[in-house]
Amino acid sequence: MNRINKIKQLRQQLADWRAAGESVALVPTMGNLHAGHLELVKQGQLRADRVVVSIFVNPMQFGEGEDFASYPSTIEQDVAQLEAIKTDLLFTPSVQEVYPHGQKAQTVVAVPGISETLCGASRPGHFSGVATVVCKLLNMVQPDLALFGSKDFQQLLVIRHMVEDLCLPVEIVGVPTLREADGLARSSRNGYLTDDERSLAPALYRILCKISAAIAEGNKDYMALESEAMHALEAAGFNPDYCSIRNADNLSEPNGEESRLVILAAAYLGRARLIDNLVVDKY
Ligand code: PAF
Repeated sequence: MNRINKIKQLRQQLADWRAAGESVALVPTMGNLHAGHLELVKQGQLRADRVVVSIFVNPMQFGEGEDFASYPSTIEQDVAQLEAIKTDLLFTPSVQEVYPHGQKAQTVVAVPGISETLCGASRPGHFSGVATVVCKLLNMVQPDLALFGSKDFQQLLVIRHMVEDLCLPVEIVGVPTLREADGLARSSRNGYLTDDERSLAPALYRILCKISAAIAEGNKDYMALESEAMHALEAAGFNPDYCSIRNADNLSEPNGEESRLVILAAAYLGRARLIDNLVVDKY
């Protein structure tokens, strides 16, 4: 596997592949790779001739007091895992390479509305940081497709919205969440959990499943279901941020017209902020 840090060299390699008529998939990550990331690479390999993985812990998407400084970095294991599944290229730019004018002077991409609710309400500026870096990575690599995990449901919708609004010529592929045997969604932040917290963590998914079953049985009192989920999260040892039932296409409040709903939750367990979601087909 080729590992490149500079945009110029990245573009040279991509130009060679393009000249040979090969298609390219991009998997943007922040490293500390787990089976969920590797699944994105495998899905990319099924759809394109070449797969580029980027590892960049993006300072712009972390707020004050968040875990930027302590975000887990496991580059040697990441490289070994990517090599084992025959990834073509690993792009690991520095902060200086991505933000050459400094972060304060960086042109930003903002996706209004959808960025301001749920995780965006708790983490102001987060989705603008995500949209900006993803837009830059898409421009650096110019892939045919880019793959993202569906655990970050809101992030996926923000990126789709940005790609549509800016007419970026790329297909965005959302890959279903990979879970542990007990239901816990794979996430780099699971590494923050102590053994005791790890044993409590699958309750998040179980609670989402319970709400989903109630909706499938015809319960339309979404406010009551949300409040039930918040209490259940507290009782299970979480410090819940939100649990919300929304239109799965645009995260608006349900009005009866939507065909798919999504139940989204974010909750702290110790220092880990865990998120998860479940899509419910209404009919
Ligand atoms: O999901 C992530 O790991 C990050 O938000 C992403 C998409 C790589 C942007 O930094």
